[in-house]
Amino acid sequence: MLLKGKNVVITGSGRGIGKAIAIACAKEGANIGLVSRTSEELNISKKEIEELGVGVKVVAKTADITKFEEVEAAFQTFHNELGLLNGIVANAGYSRMWTTHEFINEKFSEILNVNILGVFYTFKAAYSYLKKDDKKEKARFIITGSEAYPNAPSKLAAYVASKFAVVGLQKSMTMEYKRENINFNMVLPTQVDTRLLRGKSAGDGNKPAHVLNPWDLNDYYLFLLCNDANRVDNALIFAYDFNEVKKLLDKAPSGKKENWEVFKDFLEENAPKVYENVKNLGKLVDFIITRSK
Ligand SMILES: NC(=O)c1ccc[n+]([C@@H]2O[C@H](COP(=O)([O-])OP(=O)(O)OC[C@H]3O[C@@H](n4cnc5c(N)ncnc54)[C@H](OP(=O)(O)O)[C@@H]3O)[C@@H](O)[C@H]2O)c1
Repeated sequence: MLLKGKNVVITGSGRGIGKAIAIACAKEGANIGLVSRTSEELNISKKEIEELGVGVKVVAKTADITKFEEVEAAFQTFHNELGLLNGIVANAGYSRMWTTHEFINEKFSEILNVNILGVFYTFKAAYSYLKKDDKKEKARFIITGSEAYPNAPSKLAAYVASKFAVVGLQKSMTMEYKRENINFNMVLPTQVDTRLLRGKSAGDGNKPAHVLNPWDLNDYYLFLLCNDANRVDNALIFAYDFNEVKKLLDKAPSGKKENWEVFKDFLEENAPKVYENVKNLGKLVDFIITRSK
């Protein structure tokens, strides 16, 4: 088990990507802290994890991540119930679409508040409970970004601004906490079949082919939380690039796909741009290869 005995808190884990991450981490032996505003959804996530029968602890706590006192209270509870925290996934997010000059003012602020302030509050509230006494087992702070960075699709000005902002936030925190045992990393998904993208149709079985399932991202989060990534810091894991890596791993002749060392030349030759973006993340490619066996 990759995360046996580790304590991991995931915000926005009542549904969608966060719920998939929580289930994946529990299957790998982690105790889980679940947070969002909707207790019914959190209770379902908790029950599904308990029904796995893997014997991990699950603590669910409602909090609005735009309200610092609520986030603080949630982390106090996680610390009381689980102990020091090994990993935090700042995943909760929100978006709405309008042409910029018609964007409703309150919605614009709400998106920035959830997607930027929420990440800041999550880190601030978690900081004193992070387990940062061992450089061989650093604490992890992982943000769910978006391909909206750097692609900037239209009618999503607030969302795009927020997802650009968290890249900056990650970079400053990486520099600021260099001397502490905390790694900051980000997963930047392409479109995923969740309520945020497809509203009430999420999970109806009719998603377009290019849209990912929430669980398709699990390997990236598991990698960032596990010991293999102890020295990975300020990485941006673009789901688009790693999808291409997965497709090329399928196509590569045997002898060229057993590990990163033998695969990298094949990748560079067939997808030079993807190679440029992933060449410092060979360990993740190895992780994906191992998990697919
Ligand atoms: N789906 C995509 O296509 C896509 C693509 C790229 C990136 N992402 C990112 O992935 C992350 C997860 O989104 P998702 O797609 O899984 O969407 P989702 O299914 O709508 O889930 C969002 C989660 O965030 C929680 N949340 C929202 N506002 C909150 C608040 N103020 N306080 C606490 N929790 C809050 C929601 O619960 P409550 O509403 O109950 O609070 C829910 O659990 C987001 O950061 C999003 O930007 C998604």
